[in-house]
Amino acid sequence: MSSRRGFFFQLATAALGTRLRAEDRPKRDMIVRSARPEDLEMPLSGFADYITPIEHFFVRSHVYVPTVNAAEWRLKVEGEVGKPLTLTLEELKALPAVELVSVVECAGNGRGYYTPTVAGVQWNRGAVGNGRWRGVRLADVLRRAGIKDSAREILFDGADVPLGSMPDFQRSIPAKKALDSNTLLAYEMNGETLPVKHGFPLRVVAPGWASDSWVKWLTTIRVLDKEHDGFWMKGAYRHPGKPVPPGAAIPLDQMQPVTSLRVKSVIAAPLDGAQAIVGKPLAIRGVAWSGDAGPVTAVEVSVDGGRTWKAAALHADQRTQFGWRQWQLDWTPPQEAYYTILARARDAAGNTQPFDQEWNPSGYSWNVIPRAGIDVVKEISAPAAAAQSDAGTRTPPGGFREACSGCHEDDLIRQQRLTRAQWDREITKMTGWGAKVKDEDRQSLLDFLSGSYGPRPQGR
Ligand code: HEC
Repeated sequence: MSSRRGFFFQLATAALGTRLRAEDRPKRDMIVRSARPEDLEMPLSGFADYITPIEHFFVRSHVYVPTVNAAEWRLKVEGEVGKPLTLTLEELKALPAVELVSVVECAGNGRGYYTPTVAGVQWNRGAVGNGRWRGVRLADVLRRAGIKDSAREILFDGADVPLGSMPDFQRSIPAKKALDSNTLLAYEMNGETLPVKHGFPLRVVAPGWASDSWVKWLTTIRVLDKEHDGFWMKGAYRHPGKPVPPGAAIPLDQMQPVTSLRVKSVIAAPLDGAQAIVGKPLAIRGVAWSGDAGPVTAVEVSVDGGRTWKAAALHADQRTQFGWRQWQLDWTPPQEAYYTILARARDAAGNTQPFDQEWNPSGYSWNVIPRAGIDVVKEISAPAAAAQSDAGTRTPPGGFREACSGCHEDDLIRQQRLTRAQWDREITKMTGWGAKVKDEDRQSLLDFLSGSYGPRPQGR
């Protein structure tokens, strides 16, 4: 080996040898929606990657991350099966391994854009990532356990422990989805051991479906002969399934569980508010994905607010069923002006993105056409410093810290924009989970919350 090649070879192996495990590499540049339990959003820069690096992968946690000892960990398969199983990680890994690329997206991704505003983590675009998942088919495990014909739903429970008296996070999927050959139990992500924040040692991979079905830290699979009626199926993650008046209170039993993702695109570049140079070619690019309705077949881009559209080029080597696809349109701004760039994806079933989203009570499944306004100029000028202000925030009343900061920080509270009635419901939800609010403090707490974190004006 020539000395030059040898030198680079040594450098490369040294770098590999010292590379930290995914576990120990810090998340970088994330938007912290909640520090504890951890809810981290990927910034727009993350959409430049095809496979989202683990350091940049969004994190959604209902509760604190559990520590699982792999040697003691077991997967139980029980319920409507002929032969209940208790599997070690080694036994599970002895089953045929399958690998696939799939987007995983939080059902609430984009919630922050809904008007009227709704309670919940105020995600913008980045509660989504494209991962390479490796594991075993859930169907193989279920067949091994002798799944019975009576099976209707498959219930998943993880090692996470509820906070206070909140209900345990358990989710079910229909038997048909569970037996689909693409539904996996994954122990690897992007070629590495599944990191703790992403469900170590085992998580459900339900391609095409929102991430509430991708249960992490999996310990129990229970085959049910009926619908599961736990809180996280009947009391959360429900959608009216049809347009309803904005702000309407829809009874939970008139809604249905969130399942498939919708066709969606993101503009990764240029960024909204950026400047571009007149006459200089500009790459407009991003990613697009869909859910059960099949892969993305086209992305169109408009540079004039939707009056005219041009087809973007889709990356040729990314034809997977469930992964996202990168797209690009090269365009040269012809004159000094302000341009409104839009992107609209279409999937195999012909679905496209709407200009305006029907509202739903929990702010799920946002997939409005994204826009980026750019100022085309002769010469780029230094950006004006953004004015930051927390004006209007009042001093918290006595009792607020004691009642509201045990389980999470106040970041989760400060990002909400809710009416008094919505805040009243939040307090009821939180006291139901164990928050201690004295009767005499409730009104001043409500005054503070609705006064400081009231709804933002209609219309954006
Ligand atoms: C017993 C623990 C606990 C206490 C005490 C508590 N919360 Fe929470 N709260 C939670 C958990 C857990 C979540 C996250 C739920 C999730 O991610 O699904 C949460 C989430 C929230 C959210 C986000 C919206 C939602 O419903 O998920 C708001 C707003 C909130 N809490 C407000 C409050 C207020 C106001 C108080 C004080 C009255 C409070 N919390 C006290 C456990 C608690």
